[in-house]
Amino acid sequence: MSREVAMLGEQMALQEKVEEICAKYNRKESLLIQILLEIQDELNWLPKEALLRLSAQLQIPLKRIYEVATFYKVFSLILRGRNLVKVCTGTACHVRKAPVMISRVTQLLGINPGETSSDLRFTLETVGCLGCCALGPVVAINDEYYSNPTTSKLEKLFNECQ
Ligand code: FES
Repeated sequence: MSREVAMLGEQMALQEKVEEICAKYNRKESLLIQILLEIQDELNWLPKEALLRLSAQLQIPLKRIYEVATFYKVFSLILRGRNLVKVCTGTACHVRKAPVMISRVTQLLGINPGETSSDLRFTLETVGCLGCCALGPVVAINDEYYSNPTTSKLEKLFNECQ
């Protein structure tokens, strides 16, 4: 199969997925946030092609969708890996050596904060506060939080990520 055919197949699958999600929510503009969350759950991010399809499905301007997608920090308009790793750099974590944790994580993953690995396995982000300051420094891998994980603990956790 040529690369072009494979990409076309991916685009069609993406469009079908967006249509399926829109149908599930009866194509209601009032449910735009829920729809965006579900699309992002499926794709790990919000690609332009998905938002264009969403605009057509809900019959609302693309500008309106971008306003919502850029307002909430939970949405990503940048390609994300299958596993999202967050290192907290809030004040409480910072004083408990969050910078050391960041260098530990960047070394293990081979990417810097804001980057995604070339195999799309990991995206690394830094965040302001994860809401569990007493556990700092905190690392979140997908939805699991870890308090001051050692290098070997992180290595084991990253190896378990698909
Ligand atoms: S500052 Fe890190 S969890 Fe609050």
